[in-house]
Amino acid sequence: MTTENPRIADHPVDKVFTDRWSPRAFTGEEIPQSVLFTLFEAARWAPSSYNSQPWRFLYATNGNAHWDKFLGLLIPFNQSWAKTASALVYVVSETTMVAPGVDARVPSHSHSFDAGAAWASLALQATLLGWATHGMVGVDFDRVKTELNVPDDHRVEAAIAIGKRGPKTLLPEALQAREAPSPRKSVAEIAL
Ligand SMILES: Cc1cc2nc3c(=O)[nH]c(=O)nc-3n(C[C@H](O)[C@H](O)[C@H](O)COP(=O)(O)O)c2cc1C
Repeated sequence: MTTENPRIADHPVDKVFTDRWSPRAFTGEEIPQSVLFTLFEAARWAPSSYNSQPWRFLYATNGNAHWDKFLGLLIPFNQSWAKTASALVYVVSETTMVAPGVDARVPSHSHSFDAGAAWASLALQATLLGWATHGMVGVDFDRVKTELNVPDDHRVEAAIAIGKRGPKTLLPEALQAREAPSPRKSVAEIAL
């Protein structure tokens, strides 16, 4: 699927950053396990506080035994379009870690920040391979915790839909209007 990408960076950046955006129209095609694992591999190399690597990825591919359960843990709006993704991932982070020189586990200040870095790496690797990702907080977090057996010292951060971008005509009209790369605040607004 070609991308008509209207995004123009104010300062030079690699095109992967502006090429990545979050579609809702997915073809539903099967994602090879090798691709999925390459995405997790990219996430794996993200930096984290004390190299604690607090990220965990719970995944199901479209049509497999866990798919219906994973899809059903999204809010109905997200289910309506994510049902044609190729994979769904719940990103979880471990809230405690072992710091150097400390015997017991201590609370991690940055578990969510670290998991965010990992998801960003996954998303950019997907873009580089011609796949698309869409992050979601429209999730029934309490049910994810219980139904996916997430331990108490882990936080469910978000879900990710992964798939191949399809034509926007796959979507209902209201969503077709939103199916485009979005703009950004200027660097002057975010870097002070
Ligand atoms: C953590 C996170 C949660 C999000 N939650 C949702 C969601 O529940 N439903 C949805 O349709 N989009 C969701 N989005 C998509 C954002 O709206 C989108 O990333 C943002 O508007 C920027 O657009 P872009 O990703 O296309 O550049 C989420 C994105 C992130 C990173």
